[in-house]
Amino acid sequence: MQNVALIVAAGKGERAGSALPKQYAPLGGKALIAYSVDAFHRHHLIDAVFVVIGAGQETLLATALGERAVDGVIIGGAERQDSVRIGLNEIAVQGGAKTVLIHDAARPFLPADVIDRLLVALDTGKATVPVLPVVDTLARANGTMGDAVDRSALVHVQTPQAFHFEDIRKAHVTFQTLRATDDAQIARLSGMDVMLVEGDTMLKKITHTADFAVAEGQLAATLISRTGMGYDVHRLEAGKDLWLCGLKIEHSHGLAGHSDADVALHAITDAILGAISAGDIGDHFPPSDQKWRGAASSIFIEYARDLVEQRGGLIDHIDLTIICEAPKIGPHRDRMRVAIASMLRVSIESISVKATTTERLGFTGREEGISAQAVATVRMKR
Ligand code: CTP
Ligand code: MG
Repeated sequence: MQNVALIVAAGKGERAGSALPKQYAPLGGKALIAYSVDAFHRHHLIDAVFVVIGAGQETLLATALGERAVDGVIIGGAERQDSVRIGLNEIAVQGGAKTVLIHDAARPFLPADVIDRLLVALDTGKATVPVLPVVDTLARANGTMGDAVDRSALVHVQTPQAFHFEDIRKAHVTFQTLRATDDAQIARLSGMDVMLVEGDTMLKKITHTADFAVAEGQLAATLISRTGMGYDVHRLEAGKDLWLCGLKIEHSHGLAGHSDADVALHAITDAILGAISAGDIGDHFPPSDQKWRGAASSIFIEYARDLVEQRGGLIDHIDLTIICEAPKIGPHRDRMRVAIASMLRVSIESISVKATTTERLGFTGREEGISAQAVATVRMKR
């Protein structure tokens, strides 16, 4: 392997005080660690992504990553430095790499151009870190303010930090009894010159509780809200199963169609596709294709969800209206909301299910069919 990423996520996140260790806590509906996994996956020069987690955090990681795959999950150690060393040794066992980018899971927003700059620097150097200048006045303090420190000679050091793989692995093994808060310090101990590249304010580490609110704000600034609408109709036929919102509903009639004819899920799928300007359900699942005969419509809505996720977006809200005289939707409403929320991997508060009749007017009024309308609100990258 050429370039591998090692994400360290084995900490307890004690200072952040979140319900889950911070690396697994949600930010805009997505776990912190999933952001850096996605950022490395998206970068064409990164060949593999390894994650170091704490003992007993396996389930937390699985939930945080959902369907994302990583190339290895390693159990870390007591301190960050131990987690990195254990991770590097395990990658070596699995064949090693040419270079490694070591990154804190606690820094969710990882711009691709920082990775670019690090890899370019590694062409000529052995070690490189992203840094930002210090803008505030720095001073000694001991109850009251002491002398100011010359900030022009100081920088903030961020991650990912990039190294030639074997050099940094050996350095970590050699200096494992000395304590260091980052890998560049270990590199320097073994005599490497650490080159500086420009960091990014987005890379700030989430350390304290208040940092989550700042990160939510940063996330909001990178995304714009978009709305899509969906509409669908299916014919009612006696003796068929009635599927609505992924649930089988007791009724004398069911909906006819190529798939399971879940008119509600079809409207939501089209609303999501509309919000990301990705055509409609028929473009992605042609009715002419025998593959979709009798298919569960959860396939369609989950496909639309994946498209949003692949484009770095988030589903914020769904408002669904089912239009029929019968069956009554009210008794099923909350189960429907739970079912849709689970298909879209959002909270139930993000799903609204409403119903109306058409006062016995028109095809829905004559109970010839059921229609559904949905509005999807998503946030997409600017
Ligand atoms: N880390 C690790 N193994 C440890 C300690 C920390 O892999 N034994 C990781 C953290 O998960 C985090 C990164 O190193 O992604 C930076 O550490 P820090 O911000 O200090 O995270 P925590 O140690 O989890 O937080 P705290 O110190 O507040 O408990
Ligand atoms: Mg720590």
